[in-house]
Amino acid sequence: MPETGNISGARYDNILGTVGNTRLTKASSSMPIRCCRSGCNRDRGKRKGRWWEPDDMTMLFIRKKLHHFYSVIAMMLPLFCLAAEAPSNTPLPWAYALNTPGIEDPFEYNVPHTVPGSDVEITFTLPRNLYAPPDWHSEDHPAMPAIVSVGRNPGVFACGYCHLPNGQGRPENASLTGLPREYIIQQMADWRAGLRNTSEPLHGPATNMRAIGVNATPAEVEMAADYFSSLQPKKWITVIETNSVPETVVAGWMYVDAGMGRNEAIGNRIFEMPVDLELTELRDDRSGFIAYVPPGSVATGERLVTAANCRTCHGEELRGLGPVPGLAGRSPSYIARQLYDLQVGNRRGLWSPLMQDAVSDLELEDIVALSAYLSSLDP
Ligand code: HEC
Ligand code: HEC
Repeated sequence: MPETGNISGARYDNILGTVGNTRLTKASSSMPIRCCRSGCNRDRGKRKGRWWEPDDMTMLFIRKKLHHFYSVIAMMLPLFCLAAEAPSNTPLPWAYALNTPGIEDPFEYNVPHTVPGSDVEITFTLPRNLYAPPDWHSEDHPAMPAIVSVGRNPGVFACGYCHLPNGQGRPENASLTGLPREYIIQQMADWRAGLRNTSEPLHGPATNMRAIGVNATPAEVEMAADYFSSLQPKKWITVIETNSVPETVVAGWMYVDAGMGRNEAIGNRIFEMPVDLELTELRDDRSGFIAYVPPGSVATGERLVTAANCRTCHGEELRGLGPVPGLAGRSPSYIARQLYDLQVGNRRGLWSPLMQDAVSDLELEDIVALSAYLSSLDP
């Protein structure tokens, strides 16, 4: 007999059961079993030592074009070449991208900015104000409750700053658009109870989110959940299978083109990058992302999803079912972090046991393939 318990009034079985009003039936077959433990470190340190060659330096100074946003980042390369890269605490450092040391914020402060299709003009000042997210396209979404548009100072940054006013989110955080209200409330309760943690303590955004989960009051959480669950998700990420990716640095917790004009092998990794870095840094919630994924990973991911019956709980279209969250079209970096956090038990919320069978035997290649496939779907 499966263990049973109570989650906020809803009965659930330890393996399969009922979440909220939704009956979850047991999957008839399980994932192909290949133990990952010994192979988990294979990507670790792969990125080290790439910038040390002297010809890189020479190249950089020749190529620099100050007026070009990307080149400003490239300009900073000599600085971080001197700094050691922080060692990753996970075997999938690409999913928990850590800022490359020494990169300075190339953003232009104290000058007016605008974005295409908006009448709004904003002059940003340092330090960045996480209680004042820009809302370039207020016509795209309903009126935001205060907790989303300005947060509560001090202690709860505006949800709309990181997740964007339309909730579509960025690779280093998560999309909240259209997630079930009950699911959002449960996740915030898990953070508050210390049950949702990141496997990479150096990942600043996830650490910030934990603090927000702890500090937000139940009333604030309900308002935010009402808002984000009412929104309609839109296609936000273009998935491209490729053998090679532009050489990148991590700035603002996401991969950006280093402006070197050179490529490197993708390996068993996913690189999620803004379509337009400048607009993304202006937090334009109409400007989405490209995810470079290994060749064949989308089809492999689809096979794994079918074999593991992920659709039983996440819905036929993987757009969610009752209180179970949708996965279609969401950030592959976010999906990969969650699969790993669930697998190693750093995410162990009240509903996490329902994911135990699905994640227990996943190898890193499986996590890459599942993330690639799920993010390629229309939300
Ligand atoms: C400082 C940036 C930041 C702010 C501000 C922020 N979040 Fe988050 N949020 C994150 C990050 C980062 C994650 C993903 C954590 C991870 O990958 O482990 C996240 C994830 C979430 C999730 C989980 C989504 C899922 O699919 O499980 C929820 C729910 C959430 N945030 C709600 C909120 C609410 C509500 C607010 C405002 C009260 C808020 N967040 C404000 C950074 C932020
Ligand atoms: C028995 C039901 C069930 C099955 C089968 C299942 N899931 Fe889940 N999944 C859940 C529930 C419930 C959650 C929320 C977990 C929590 O709250 O910690 C979840 C969460 C997730 C998350 C995190 C989503 C987020 O927004 O943070 C991902 C990613 C995920 N599942 C992927 C999968 C994949 C891939 C499969 C198949 C390999 C799968 N799930 C199979 C029930 C299931």
